[in-house]
Parts: sequence; C-alpha cells; structure tokens
Amino acid sequence: MTDMTPIDYRQREYSDAIKAFLARGPRLFINNEWVESSHGATIGVEDPSSGKEITRIADASDRDVDRAVAAARTAFDDGRWTGLAPNARERIIHRFADLLEAHADEFAEIEAIDNGKPKGMAAAVDIPGAISQLRFMAGWASKISGEVIQPYTMPTGTVFGYTLREPVGVCGQIVPWNFPLLMACLKIAPALAAGCTLVLKPAEQTPLTALRLADLVAEAGFPAGVVNIITGYGHTAGDRMVKHPDVDKIAFTGSTEIGKLINRNATDTLKHVTLELGGKSPVVIMPDVNVAEVAPGAAGAIFFNSGQVCVAGSRLFAHRSIFDQVIEGVAATAPFWAPRPSLDAEAHAGPLVSKEQFDRVMGYIEAGKRDGASVAMGGDAPTADGYYVNPTVLVDVNPQMSVVREEIFGPVVVAQRFDDLDEVAKAANDTCFGLGAGVWTRDVATMHKLAAKIKSGTVWGNCHAVIDTALPFGGYKESGIGREQGRAGIEAYLETKSVILQL
Ligand code: NAI
Ligand code: MG
Repeated sequence: MTDMTPIDYRQREYSDAIKAFLARGPRLFINNEWVESSHGATIGVEDPSSGKEITRIADASDRDVDRAVAAARTAFDDGRWTGLAPNARERIIHRFADLLEAHADEFAEIEAIDNGKPKGMAAAVDIPGAISQLRFMAGWASKISGEVIQPYTMPTGTVFGYTLREPVGVCGQIVPWNFPLLMACLKIAPALAAGCTLVLKPAEQTPLTALRLADLVAEAGFPAGVVNIITGYGHTAGDRMVKHPDVDKIAFTGSTEIGKLINRNATDTLKHVTLELGGKSPVVIMPDVNVAEVAPGAAGAIFFNSGQVCVAGSRLFAHRSIFDQVIEGVAATAPFWAPRPSLDAEAHAGPLVSKEQFDRVMGYIEAGKRDGASVAMGGDAPTADGYYVNPTVLVDVNPQMSVVREEIFGPVVVAQRFDDLDEVAKAANDTCFGLGAGVWTRDVATMHKLAAKIKSGTVWGNCHAVIDTALPFGGYKESGIGREQGRAGIEAYLETKSVILQL
C-alpha cells in the first residue's frame, strides 16, 4: 500500500518534448499564424506541483484582441468557413480530433504540469473528453436544418414559409483553468460545427494546452481566421472580447461573480451569452444503500480533480441511520486521494491550481473551524512547495456557515444528516446554485422523486459528475444560462431565420 510511504512532493522531470514546447517564445495565434503581442507584455505560468514558473505567455493587449476579432470577423463574413459544404466542415473537425488524439500523451503531460492534475487523470478524462466533444459535434455540421412551416393566418398554397438555421457569427469563448483543454474543445466544437468563427481565451493560469492545440489548427485544414487563440487576463483581454462590437456571442465558463459581470457587460452590444458557472452540488445518500460501496463514490464526487469541478459534490447529505458509517467510509479514502505531484505515476489527485486558490480554500477551512465545524478528515495542507491541500471533511456544520453556502472549489466537503426525503430535498435546494446533484439509493421511486424535486441542470443516480457529450449540460438558478453539449449545445450557436414567400 502507498499510504505507509511518505509522499515525495517534488515534481518529476518533464519530457524533452515538453521542455522544447516551454522554451518557445510568447505568441498569439491569429489568422493561422503565430504573432507577437503589440506591447510585448507577458504573464508567468507556474507548475502548481512545484510553485515554480515554467514559461511565460503573451498578455494580449486591446490591440491584439481587436486583431484576433478582426481575423474571425473577416473569416466569418467572407464565407470561407460557413460557405464550405457541411461534409467538408465535418471532415476538418474530425481531422482536428484525430490530430489531438495522435498527440494525446503530450497533451496529458502539458495539462498535468500546467493545471496540477495527475497526468493519468488528464489522459483518462480530459484528453478523451476533448476529443469526444469534437467528434460528436463534427457530425452536427451536416445535420442542421430548418423546417417548412404552414402559416396560420394565410390560406394554404398562397405563401411558402420556412426557417433557416444560421451560425450566430463571431464567438468569443472564455474558459477556466480546471479542465483547460476539455473546456476549450467543449466551446470550440459546437461553434465550428454551426459554422461560426471564434476567438478563444484560455485562463491565464492554464494557457498551455490551448496554445499547443493552436499548432494543429492549420494542419487540420481550418481556413485562416476561423480559430484564433489568444492568451491574456480576464479583466483586460476577456473584457475587451465581451464588449467588442464585432463579437456576436460570448460563451463563458467560470465563476458566478464574473459570469454576472459578463452578462452585464455584453448588454450594450446585445450579444448572445451562454454562461456555465459555479455550483454547490448536493450528494444525497439514502439509508437503503450498501455504504461500503457508496462511500467511495461520495468521496470521488468531491475529491476528483482536487474538488476543482463545477459539479463537485461539496454538500454531502447522509441519512441519520448511516451517517457515521458514511463519514468513516469517506475518510478511509484519504490515502487514495492524497495529493501528489502531477507527474507522480501513483497520483489520483494533485495540488490546487495556484497560490490564490490554495489561500482561498485554506481560508474556507479556517472559517469553517472558526464557525464551529469539526474536522472528520484532513483539514490541513502538507509541507511542500506546491499548492497541496489534504482532502477534507467537515461535520457539525449548519446552513448559515460560509463553508455550506459558498463554492469552495477545493477538496472540501461539508456533511449533514437528514431524516426524510422531503427534508433532504428542501436542504439540497437551499442554495443559490443549481448545477448538479447526486442521489444514491436502490429504490427506483425515491430516485425519480428526488430527481424531480432537486432544482439543478443535471441529476445523477448512483454516480456523480458523469458527463456525456450527447446530454445537455448547464445550470439552474445562479449556475448559469443556456446549455452546452448535445442538440442544445449546437442550438446555442445558431440563429433562426424565418423566410415567408408570397406565391
Ligand atoms: P474567473 O471566473 O475569474 O475566471 C474564469 C475565466 O474568466 C478566465 O479565463 C478569466 O481570465 C476570465 N475572466 C475573468 N474576469 C473576466 C472579465 N471581467 N471579463 C471576461 N473574462 C474574465 O475565475 P477565477 O478567478 O479563476 O476563480 C475564482 C473562483 O471561480 C473559483 O474559486 C471557483 O469558485 C470559481 N470557478 C468556477 C469554475 C467553473 O467551472 N464553474 C471554473 C473556475 C473557477
Ligand atoms: Mg477571477
């Protein structure tokens, strides 16, 4: 067992390919070319496993953003992408997916050193997930069509009415740092399938896989200006995109705070906006389950990706009769989820993404303790250079505490008891968020009742955070606006035009 050997928190050596990639200069990808920023400013990128700077990226200026948007605007308006036959667009998106797949190992390593997640997790989840987004949406490129509609107020045969589905235009896509490549492809894929052109801005903390992805754009066959990838800060480069008159749609994933700001800032130009924001997702464990099987599931729901998951199961509700057993079972997973350097082959969890997130999460743990919560597991951080936080369970909490109300975005779960179904449904809904929820029970009726009562975009039964490209994903309440993935995901990149012809 690994739990007896002390963990070596020193990051492992990078491969030569990655060292070469990191040695490139800071560049922006505009019009299928690598270009320098107009003002030469750069941003440092850290490996969270060591806390050390590993490279620098371009800090896009307003002029750089304008240049990228102009490239996307021209590429959209002259029809070099929209005007291609659907099967040609489909084939190019598939080729993009094939190229990504051919470099999967390299992408997994880059994601591991940039975000801090274990390379094995990136290889098992992030990279295949990204490829799957591209492949699923590629097929939609050839399956979008309007309908012929019989008008209501005019006699049959006197008018011909139909709808066309058209791409919304130039998309500004702003993604966070928790699943950098996966989020990038989740945004890029439907936009391209719909016939849009785009400017993607990865998070300043984790820009590297998006930059490596840009290498594959021209090779896949995208005409210049269709996919532009720029790096920079949110309040500068991101904000410029949100307010830019030549951008038709903003797709954002990130904090609820910034999502609200973006929604306000996009108002003057009345852009289409889709927002995928924060959560405080409940995990409900009914008394009929086999606790030995379910407790590891509840642990995975919060500790996967070190809790940096928008649907993290951060509020655990276990029936009073099994509560202590559930907590014991979750606590028993501590060795499995103990954070390790991202290139340690034994890692199932890594450090948090940044010092800022480390301080934020440790601050919540301290606030919980101050407010009277007890620590049933973890509650501390190992002594190391990286941003490691031990998986933590807080009990003796109440619904007023900040640890219960606010998104922590770290490996911290608050556990509460309940007695009956209506009570737990009410408690589960006692939040401004509504992104995901997990229900664990063998009773089919209970499952369906809770699925109906819980106000969230996704409800999982006997699993958690299972995301499939075909199923719509998004939030109720302050967890967002709109849906990504599935048919709903492509719809979010389409306009509907009605055509009425007098015969
Ligand atoms: P954030 O929401 O500030 O950043 C996400 C993205 O938005 C980044 O690409 C950033 O550059 C961009 N951005 C920031 N300000 C912007 C602005 N004014 N206009 C346009 N774009 C802007 O999230 P941050 O600060 O990195 O993390 C803070 C908290 O947000 C986390 O602790 C977590 O609770 C939550 N979060 C939620 C995520 C989710 O998947 N729902 C992902 C990341 C963070
Ligand atoms: Mg922020």
